[in-house]
Amino acid sequence: MIKIKDKLFHLHNNNISYYIYCNSHGHLETIYFGEYLEDIGNIDAIRKADIDNDTTQYFDFSKNKEFTYPDHYRYSIESVEISTHGLRDKRGAPIILKKEDGTNVTDFRFVSYEILESLPTYEELPYARKNSSPCQTLRILLKDYLSDIYVYENISIFEDKDIIIKNFEIVNKGNIIVPILRANSMQLDLKDNQYKLHHFAGKWASERFEVVTDIKDGIQEVSSNTGRSSHEENPFVFLTKKDTSYDKGEVIGFNLIYSGNFSFRTFNNSFCNTHITYGINDEDFNWMLKPNEVFVTPQAVISYSQDGIDGMSINMHKFVKENIVNPLLDQKEKPILFNSWEGCYFDFTTESIISYIDDSLKIGSELFVLDDGWFGKRDNDESGLGDWFVNENKINLKKVVDHCTSKGMNFGIWFEPEMINPDSNLYREHPEYILTCKGMDQVSLYRHQLVLDFSSEEVVENIYQQMIKIIDSYDISYIKWDHNRMINEHFSFHHNKENQGEIYHRVILGYYTLIKKLTQRYPDILFEGCASGGGRFDLGTLFYYPQIWASDDTDPIQRMYIQYNTSLGYPLSTIGSHASANPITSYKTKALLALFGTYGYEMNPNKLNEKEISELSEVASIYKKYHHEVIANGTLYHLSSPQDSNAMSMCSVSKDKSKALVIYMNLLKEYKKTRFLKLRGLEKNKKYRNSFDNNIFTGDYYEKVGINLSRQYLPEFECQLFILEEVE
Ligand code: DGJ
Repeated sequence: MIKIKDKLFHLHNNNISYYIYCNSHGHLETIYFGEYLEDIGNIDAIRKADIDNDTTQYFDFSKNKEFTYPDHYRYSIESVEISTHGLRDKRGAPIILKKEDGTNVTDFRFVSYEILESLPTYEELPYARKNSSPCQTLRILLKDYLSDIYVYENISIFEDKDIIIKNFEIVNKGNIIVPILRANSMQLDLKDNQYKLHHFAGKWASERFEVVTDIKDGIQEVSSNTGRSSHEENPFVFLTKKDTSYDKGEVIGFNLIYSGNFSFRTFNNSFCNTHITYGINDEDFNWMLKPNEVFVTPQAVISYSQDGIDGMSINMHKFVKENIVNPLLDQKEKPILFNSWEGCYFDFTTESIISYIDDSLKIGSELFVLDDGWFGKRDNDESGLGDWFVNENKINLKKVVDHCTSKGMNFGIWFEPEMINPDSNLYREHPEYILTCKGMDQVSLYRHQLVLDFSSEEVVENIYQQMIKIIDSYDISYIKWDHNRMINEHFSFHHNKENQGEIYHRVILGYYTLIKKLTQRYPDILFEGCASGGGRFDLGTLFYYPQIWASDDTDPIQRMYIQYNTSLGYPLSTIGSHASANPITSYKTKALLALFGTYGYEMNPNKLNEKEISELSEVASIYKKYHHEVIANGTLYHLSSPQDSNAMSMCSVSKDKSKALVIYMNLLKEYKKTRFLKLRGLEKNKKYRNSFDNNIFTGDYYEKVGINLSRQYLPEFECQLFILEEVE
């Protein structure tokens, strides 16, 4: 997978090639990244192909004369792995340091390399896990020309998936503290500037709307500065070419194994290259790197495909399932979940919850989750966060859990560990536990809550102790972990003034410390991430939890966009989705949509009528029969995007290609009467019966002709499910 010849590194598998050359200057040039290329030939043909043919000229003080490097290195034009800063390269460096003399010159040059038969792992950060499939890592050591700061660049490649992982580790081998002003995870210089950038913008309850723009000259950025990966933008983005479609053409997907502020930046200039840097957002970032310490940047993930958007997406899904999510949790068949939130919000008693449990059984529920409102003084969102003890006046939790288990159901509970209400015992005892800065006469509230200072070990430990007391006292098999506000005051009483530029990142490290301790102590508990819906849908969180609540919007029309778009970068098994009481559409439609996610319910089950119970039970039995094999572990194809057509459709095919589930929803009725739904991913020569018209066709036919939807009346905004099964 990694070959080396004459300072030319070739990372490759059967489909992709990545050539890196260490030039005479000691800089790492990115010679080629793309489709597999066996023989790169004479690399000077590529290196000299740029518009400007001049080599960079230097003036050597010691010899008092001009010179150029023998291999014609052009400092500001060449594609490189790490641009310099404060020198001639103006494209944007991934790493910027502040030197003892006050200057910011950073210039990393080659020292040595090694090849690892594994992936790097980290104590403090989530990382790509190694599984049984072969992978290798090229680990190159570079040194800053003017200081004792070293950088390891790690680039990993897999044999069985077209994924590259990149990150930097910055090491201080000097004897003074060095401020790091920017610590991105990667740079990638592509030798083309005709790309479109797809990113996923949104807000609370309408997360991940796909926005497509041409990559223009100058800088473009997709980022979050809200202290979490955010509703506003998601760290998953991808590039396409003009003629790329879902099944054809070049696509390069990116993601970051991180849950905090990020910045994905592109820069185009007249040399027709696309310069990409990606990593932690440098806004207010200032990390004081002490002697002998290492700053590890989160790993960036690149998914490459020539098989269109789905090629990239399938790659990403495979990677997330095999190398991000804990495999033991990923492979466990998930119970049908019933969540109390939308049914009763804060308004419940022991008896009402017991009646919910009983009625939720009628629709096949297997795991009952008591959401917000069971702890401290919590009858609304104005108080209680931070006080993780049962509100005995409101609920007899033991009775509820015992009732649940006596009915053969599992029990789950909600926490919001990183937050605190001013009206709480914890705040009254420890006002210094919140994020803010000295001298402020006010601090911003969202939903009446403040953010706990997770950059402090003491604060994290306090919450940990409170949580384990609850978890150890009750039979809990699921935890929903919420996070309902962004960070505004990113400053801490627990750190010196020099370290205030570290707080955004330290808070995320505190989040990882707590979930790591909890998931290690309770390996069998199913954790689900959540942040006011889908405000922290990222690979950092998925490293610890196998699923994340996708959005607080359970209106199926809005949600169809959210789930479809989320599934471009994340597998369906990770997308938390429930059928709710939202009045738009039938329960059947809502449940079918939820089926293309984790599947569960969230309504007042006492109010369900016979028809609704039967619609939901029908989908519950489809869930039990097919979900684990065909949806949670199948291969997903996007057949029709609701954003650029008047129907939404996806098809998930089981690994052995014997079954497929297809979801289809008409938005506006077609005025043109003929419509064939072409499927993808089936075995060409196998024959399948489809549940729509009961016909039997070959996989080839379904791909080339499709299911004929023309003659049927397909109502608007009603989900249809077509089940395809192989026949002899
Ligand atoms: C926001 C979450 O997204 C909801 O599902 C629910 O858990 C509420 N918080 C509870 O406060």
